[in-house]
Amino acid sequence: MNRGPFIFLGVFIILSLTWALVINKPIQETGHLSPIFDAEQGGRLPIGIKGGAAQGKLVYQEFGCIACHTQQVRVAAGFDLERGWGERQSVARDYLDETPVLIGNSRLGPDLSNVGKRQTDASWHMLHFYNPDITSKGSNMPAMPFLFETREIVGEATSRALKLPAEYAVADGYEVIPSRKAEALVAYMKSLKVTYDLKEAPKSNDVMSEELSVALENAK
Ligand code: HEC
Repeated sequence: MNRGPFIFLGVFIILSLTWALVINKPIQETGHLSPIFDAEQGGRLPIGIKGGAAQGKLVYQEFGCIACHTQQVRVAAGFDLERGWGERQSVARDYLDETPVLIGNSRLGPDLSNVGKRQTDASWHMLHFYNPDITSKGSNMPAMPFLFETREIVGEATSRALKLPAEYAVADGYEVIPSRKAEALVAYMKSLKVTYDLKEAPKSNDVMSEELSVALENAK
């Protein structure tokens, strides 16, 4: 018997199903998303990233921060809301303006989707980049002193200079000045916050607390 037509049909069915489920379904679900306009929440959503923050995003890519940090608040598979990493789940529409999207998949450090809300103080970020140990004792995050210039004070000390605690101070007569890259990176960190609601992901802890109670129940 000639099995050719059956083999062909089998392969055809498998490939068509794969195309339908793996390629077409996601395109139908998220491929045609567009921004929404909501006057109450400040106009176009997502808000988008501009100016110095956009420069900082390039620095973030350059230094491979994505190797340790995600930018996605997960609700279905984790306790991100409990950790204080966001007020709602991240959804596809949040990333519409992002090219490339820096979701990341490794969490050696905290998720940064809302770090701009947690850490609003620019000097905190500067000290943390200069040496994470200053703000977060025992941190595993690499120090980035190369983002700063240590230079001799000429005349008056510069107001932009880092206010280092005594044990990290540089030699007398010297000061540590943030570079443009450091400033852009801090602007980017401060811009990372989700301040708006989307109807597909309303700000609510209800979903999570229900899941949490189930998880806690199962853990007993
Ligand atoms: C080797 C892994 C690693 C890399 C690479 C890394 N980080 Fe981190 N990061 C951490 C860890 C661990 C912490 C938590 C301890 C701390 O606060 O230092 C952290 C904390 C942070 C925080 C504070 C978050 C919070 O919730 O308070 C910020 C902001 C941050 N990182 C930004 C960056 C940026 C920007 C880069 C790239 C220039 C970067 N990190 C690269 C590991 C890393």
